[in-house]
Amino acid sequence: MNKYIVNGGRPLYGEVTVSGAKNAAVAIIPAALMVDGVCRIENIPQISDVTLFFSILDELGAKVRILNRHAVELDCRAIRSTRPSYELARRIRASYYLLGALLGRFGEATVAMPGGCDFGVRPIDQHIKGFTAMGAQVSVEGGYINARAKNGHLKGANVYLDVVSVGATMNIMMAAALAEGTTIIENAAREPHIVDLANFLNSMGADVKGAGTDSIKIRGVKRLNGGSYAIIPDQIEAGTLMIAAAATHGDVLIRGALPTHMEALTAKLLEMGARVDEGVGEDSIRVRSDGNHRHVNIKTLPYPGFPTDLQQPMSVLLSTARGTSIINETIYEMRYKHLEEIRHMGGISQINDRIAIIEGVPHLTGCAVTASDLRAGAALVIAGLMAEGVTDIYNVQYIDRGYEHLEDKLRSLGAKIERLTVD
Ligand code: EPZ
Repeated sequence: MNKYIVNGGRPLYGEVTVSGAKNAAVAIIPAALMVDGVCRIENIPQISDVTLFFSILDELGAKVRILNRHAVELDCRAIRSTRPSYELARRIRASYYLLGALLGRFGEATVAMPGGCDFGVRPIDQHIKGFTAMGAQVSVEGGYINARAKNGHLKGANVYLDVVSVGATMNIMMAAALAEGTTIIENAAREPHIVDLANFLNSMGADVKGAGTDSIKIRGVKRLNGGSYAIIPDQIEAGTLMIAAAATHGDVLIRGALPTHMEALTAKLLEMGARVDEGVGEDSIRVRSDGNHRHVNIKTLPYPGFPTDLQQPMSVLLSTARGTSIINETIYEMRYKHLEEIRHMGGISQINDRIAIIEGVPHLTGCAVTASDLRAGAALVIAGLMAEGVTDIYNVQYIDRGYEHLEDKLRSLGAKIERLTVD
């Protein structure tokens, strides 16, 4: 196990580059299973969820050739199994994409029920609704999801999602790419990584239209060829760094951040009194702040609303804003565990179901805290950076799942943060 030791109270200054998007990479890599050729994928983040997927694909018989820290060549022509390793797949939520990819290409798949961060029940009924509509029989038994397409091949169908679901939208899109006929997904999620997956599939020969809107049309094709693709910058890492810049009263230029992806967060930072400047003619965002922050209210919503994955980091910034802020977490029922840790640092908050009421205090004080999930970990790092004194953050393996070398990025901006191995 590892921990971070953060010496707080120092503004972040300088420039930092955003890595490739985790939630695009964990869909695009399994999608490569559908390709009857060689895929070269670039701008892959060096995170543990990606490394895990490489191991899963390797075990299925794919040739995984690491080209450099951020690029890989995947050749899935010789795949010999549609039953990924239970032990590996159950560790992450995104393993559900193995279902859509294997079912779409081979007409069958047996995948462990997904794992992932614990914010309460995280069903996959909408994924199953889509596969069933396309002619698959899906059952859940013994910790596995079994899916079989009638007559060995999926057929295009119209699917209306009862819930705006990122995972279901991408999983159904993937499976539909090789189905017979056309699939239309209504009430689809619109996140940037959904557009990225559609662009990847189309670069391999698929026919996906409408990604980024709430209605996506996929005309099934016979096969996907090989090709090259570069993953978009990570919207949530960019947002985390923007919040860290404001929280430490610094001045940071975040290179690679796409302003159009950050509009909901940018609006809230401006409302609080931070300065946000978008790069002229380039993908970058500069965040400056004198630390004189007003309280604001946050309601998490599917894109383009305020991202639930930035709610936890944002709640820490609000913990020292002037006045009382109210957060309404509409996506998950239990995404406030980190606030208990912030209370240990002097934060004041009250939780009523999906509502958190945060009363601003003059400052936080460092102490030992424990991360409960990926974005809670990032939130605690921000708390350590802004607190007076030293903060020890345990369970940083959660952070490694979704942030590439976070401590190196922060150290390059002047943070005093060290990683220590603890037994
Ligand atoms: C993806 O999770 C992300 N994970 C999450 O990011 C992110 O928080 C979430 O989308 C929302 O943006 C990956 O992409 C691997 P959903 P996912 O399906 O697909 C309910 C991170 O920190 N729902 O959009 O699981 C569900 O319970 C992680 O990077 C159903 O009811 O999210 C939730 O309330 C954390 N039935 C809501 O929909 C379903 O079949 C949104 O979930 C599916 C979802």
